Order: sequence, then structure tokens, then C-alpha cells
Amino acid sequence: MNYTEAKQYLARHGQEHLLHFYDTLTPPQQESLLAQIAGLGLERPQFRDRNALTQKRGEFSPLGALTIEEIRKNEAKYREIGLRAIREAKVGAVLLAGGQGSRLGFEHPKGMFNMGRTRELYIFQCLIENLKRVTDEAQAYVPLLIMTSKQNNEETQAFFREHGYFGYSADNIDFFTQETEPAVDEDGKILMTAPDQIALLPNGNGGWFSSMQRAGLLEKVHSIGIEWLNVFAVDNVLQQIADPVFLGATIDSGCASGGKVVSKATPDERVGVLCLEDGKPSIVEYFEMTDEMRTLRNPDGSLAYRFGVILNYLFRVDALTHTLNSDFPLYVAHKKIAHINADGVLVKPDKPNGYKFETLVLDMVHMQDSCLAFEVDRSREFAPVKNATGVDSVETAQALLEQNGVTL
Ligand code: UTP
Repeated sequence: MNYTEAKQYLARHGQEHLLHFYDTLTPPQQESLLAQIAGLGLERPQFRDRNALTQKRGEFSPLGALTIEEIRKNEAKYREIGLRAIREAKVGAVLLAGGQGSRLGFEHPKGMFNMGRTRELYIFQCLIENLKRVTDEAQAYVPLLIMTSKQNNEETQAFFREHGYFGYSADNIDFFTQETEPAVDEDGKILMTAPDQIALLPNGNGGWFSSMQRAGLLEKVHSIGIEWLNVFAVDNVLQQIADPVFLGATIDSGCASGGKVVSKATPDERVGVLCLEDGKPSIVEYFEMTDEMRTLRNPDGSLAYRFGVILNYLFRVDALTHTLNSDFPLYVAHKKIAHINADGVLVKPDKPNGYKFETLVLDMVHMQDSCLAFEVDRSREFAPVKNATGVDSVETAQALLEQNGVTL
């Protein structure tokens, strides 16, 4: 795309301001900006009317889980199946670390946050130590694929290198960068982060599989013979990764996927619940639930929509391939987005000033034929670090780490 074509293209979509600084740029910067413009895809619905992106949902019904008690009865059998799968190199893990972590307000990748008080204990370190407990038991490595974003990739990789991969084998770690989506201001105008740089932000955690494929890592997964991928969030410091019991139970169930869930603390807890939607596994967000759904009870008195997801899923690799050709719903997130103003000066807003567009991993669950809901004890496996203080914060996660015997 040359300058004239870019100008016409942008004018058709009301985004001419992206060329405002063009004349001040060097030829390589001009070329780079034109390439970014060519890849914007402005014909897509989010640039016409972002409010029209609201998702149409099907009919929800409850989905039971394999409960902690049931798991305990078969724990030895499940563990053996899981450990065997790990030893046969059939299991890989995918760390989703491409998010912006804006609620935490930390200037670096979230995994670099130090949870320690008397020693260094980084979030990445917590995760690797949890994974190492499993690989020590199995006496075999689990290939770990780490998804970063364009913004945090270099810093994340350097951090792992400087810390000797926290004792994990570097040969068993691959990084890949997730794809991006342009961010817009409140009037729908695409934001820029520099005169030659459009605000291209990570496109949500639903993009992990296609981003992994684009990076050439799906070929590697196939060549190793990995059959199961355990996908998990960076921000749960008690995250149990490649948990052999979870693996064994999911393999044994014959389901195409599995999701770790916790019993909701109260009917109103703000957590997405694993359920069925039109007969297929799905996650209903707390704000989508009617009062009736929230309070519906089983004959034994327990909540019917009881099992909240904690972003720890198992996917069978062969059942993921078709998602590469599926259209993921796009969600709009109101966020603080750093950008340059009309004078080219960088502004870092202290409240949300624009929108980013994301796909979500939970929609990948809905693309599966079946999903085993696997209940875990939240006090042992769920300590999310979302905020600096208050609910799901550094403080609450620190308390949970201590409760689980971790020295801070
Ligand atoms: P969150 O929903 O907490 O989003 O991500 P976030 O961007 O990290 O944080 P806030 O909302 O700005 O505070 C849940 C998980 O999905 C990953 C995150 O890194 C985290 O592990 N994620 C999120 C990605 O890998 N890519 C994304 O584009 C978004």
C-alpha cells in the first residue's frame, strides 16, 4: 500500500489522522506505518459499531463436576494415567502471559511482580516451581510454551534468561508472541503510541492457539507427539500446572477438554461458571446470569450453577485444529490506553480512555464437544493477583501463599 492508497483507505473509514505525522517520519518509519495501516482490516464490524458486537447467547443449563470427593476416591488411578501421559511426552503447557495487567498497575510483565517480603519470589517463579514439582515426580519435562505480547516479549524473555529459567530446562521452553488488534478512543478513532506506531494491543487470550500456530510451534507440538495442552493464566500464584490427577481424570473421562473449577463462595460471586449452552460446554459470565440462574439449587441444596472457572484448561490438540478456522466472538474492553495526543506527546491516562478488542479462551471451550469440570480446593489452587489491593490482590494472594506453606 502506498501513501495515496493509504490516505484513501483511511478516509473511507474516518481514520485519516493516522497519517498526521507522516511527513515528519524517516522513509523506513513511513514504510512501517504504511504496512501497519495495510493490516488494520478496517472493514471489520468493530470499526463500524462496537456496540453491535454484543454476543447472542444460547440456552444455558447447569453442568455438574467431578467433585473433590469423587476425585479423591480415584486419585491414585488418575495420577498414574496423568504421569504416564507426561512421561510419554504427550503433555505440553501454555502460559498465557500476553495480558497488560492494567489493574495491577505494575510497569512490567505481570509475571515479574515480586510476591516476596523477605526474599525474591516472582510470579513466574511461583509458576515454574509449581510445575517443577510435577516434572520432578514424573522425572520428565513438560514442554512449556509461553505466550507474550509484542509489548512485553523482550522483557519477559530477558527476565527468564537472567533468572536461569528458575531452574527449568531452557530447552523445554519456547516463547511466542500473540497477535494484536488496534485500539480506539471513545469516538472510535484508532490510537497511536508514536508518530509511526499504531496502538496495536494484544488481542485477548483466545488468540493463543492461532498465534502459536503462526509462530510455527504447532508443528513442534505435532512432531513431539503432544496430545494435550494445559493452558493457564499467569496471575494465579497457586496454579497447579500439568496436574497429573487433572490430566488423568480428563483422559479417563473421554472428554475433549477439561476445566479446573472451584465451588462459588456465594451465589453472587463475580466469576464465570462452567455450564452447558445449547448442549455444549460453555462459560456463563456472572453478569449474564439471571437471578433465577444465580439462586437455582439442586435437590441436595447445592447451587446448580456452582462451578466457577479459574483459567486452567486442558485441551486435546486434535480437537483444537478446527478452532483455527472458526470465528471467535470479539469482546470490547474499556481500558487505560497510553497514546500520543495531537501534538505527538505521549499520554498515560489514569482512567479508562479507550477500547481494545479481545477474543477469549473461554469461547474455545464452547467450540469443544465436551468438557470435564474438575473441582479443586480454592484455598490450595486459586490465588489470583488482579489488583494491587482489595479483592484478588497481591495481599490476598500473599496470605494464600503463606497458608500453603510458602515463605514470602
Ligand atoms: P486478564 O483478563 O486478567 O487480562 O487476563 P490482563 O490484560 O492480564 O489484565 P487487566 O485486565 O489489564 O488487569 C487473564 C489471563 O490471560 C492473559 C493474561 O496474561 C492472564 O494470564 N492474557 C490476557 C493474554 O495472554 N493475552 C491477552 O491479550 C489478554
